[in-house]
Amino acid sequence: MRILVLGADGYLGWPTALHLSRRGHDVGVVDNFCRRGYDLEMGVDSLVPIAQLQQRVRTWEEVSGLRLETYVGDLTDHVFVQRIITEFGPEAVVHFAEQRSAPYSMIDRAHCVYTQVNNVVGTLNLLYAIAEHDRSIHLVKLGTMGEYGTPNIDIEEGFIEVTHKGRTDLLPYPKQPGSYYHLSKVHDSHNIAFACRIWGLRSTDLNQGVVYGQETDETTMHPDLATRFDYDAVFGTVLNRFCVQAVVGHPLTVYGKGGQTRGMLDIRDTLACVELALLHPAAEGEFRVFNQFTESFSVRQMADMVADAYPGELRIDHVEDPRVEKEEHYYRAAHTKLLDLGLVPHLLEPATIRSLLAVVDHHRHRVDLAAINPTVQWRTTASAVRAPIGGKAPA
Ligand SMILES: NC(=O)c1ccc[n+]([C@@H]2O[C@H](COP(=O)([O-])OP(=O)(O)OC[C@H]3O[C@@H](n4cnc5c(N)ncnc54)[C@H](O)[C@@H]3O)[C@@H](O)[C@H]2O)c1
Repeated sequence: MRILVLGADGYLGWPTALHLSRRGHDVGVVDNFCRRGYDLEMGVDSLVPIAQLQQRVRTWEEVSGLRLETYVGDLTDHVFVQRIITEFGPEAVVHFAEQRSAPYSMIDRAHCVYTQVNNVVGTLNLLYAIAEHDRSIHLVKLGTMGEYGTPNIDIEEGFIEVTHKGRTDLLPYPKQPGSYYHLSKVHDSHNIAFACRIWGLRSTDLNQGVVYGQETDETTMHPDLATRFDYDAVFGTVLNRFCVQAVVGHPLTVYGKGGQTRGMLDIRDTLACVELALLHPAAEGEFRVFNQFTESFSVRQMADMVADAYPGELRIDHVEDPRVEKEEHYYRAAHTKLLDLGLVPHLLEPATIRSLLAVVDHHRHRVDLAAINPTVQWRTTASAVRAPIGGKAPA
């Protein structure tokens, strides 16, 4: 299959591109490097060093003999988007290319507007390019479980049957997202569903949980092929932060009561899920939603699991929650559609946490502990990012 991977220089896009390439697909990779720009803006860096995209692509060709057609450009530039769709001629597009941090979107007005324009406009440009060039292209779009929020009822996969005043319909599941970033994903979902309805496009919205892990079968083939490991308060996910804190001997900092529960999955399962969605495409005009996670854990449970897996002594501290979120709540979400397609999950076991701790230990000299302190406060309209940015968000 000819597959264009958008956001292929990122944490998930790069290993996905390698995986699909190795599985025999013709893969094109697209990125504008804005993710690397956020690191420069905030004065932080991936814990694991990452090679530049062009170097990564060269090394992949040397190691595997496989080529990745490479396009550098911005999805908010509609001429660029038209060009990559017409030149590459994909049968499927996997769209990872968005600003993906909730705290980043909550820094201030400029970062909120940037996030929503980048994500919503990029996706709209893509929908138009697909509708104008080839409506049979299957769009696999990365959404997030955070679109649903934490309702006090079970979360379904995209749709819920509602009976109201004696009449019944299958309706989009209500969305209660927790940040302007998560809201951008909700807007995307609505725009994509609408495009499927009016133009007959086919799309799969993967409402993904929080991903952990850093190594895949392909990224470990050469150091140049490594993917990023973020642990800072803005882009780092909770398990990564806890592993870094454990290795450098800092107490694990749990936000609030720690009962915040989220769906999670191993990075190797992200690759498998995307491939399953590609191999079993949505029908013409179909907008379908898969909840892409394998297990759910609370923040406190994750801290306890890291403490259990770590060979030394560890303290767990509770700090004030900078976010506005329920610190204890009901959480049960359906996730059967990918299992029905054949997903065999990697579950979060002590061995997985120990392998993450080993990755951190190997690069511990690069840890900047100050980067873990949360500075972005949901309750204010303007927060300091760690490094002053002169008042300008990326254009
Ligand atoms: N990492 C997770 O735990 C997680 C969880 C749920 C959903 N997701 C979703 O998966 C996708 C990928 O996440 P990730 O962690 O790999 O993020 P990432 O930031 O590491 O990668 C995203 C890539 O897209 C690129 N990009 C962003 N805007 C672009 C634009 N306008 N034009 C071209 N390229 C652009 C960035 O430069 C970056 O390389 C995102 O859409 C994210 O919302 C991620």
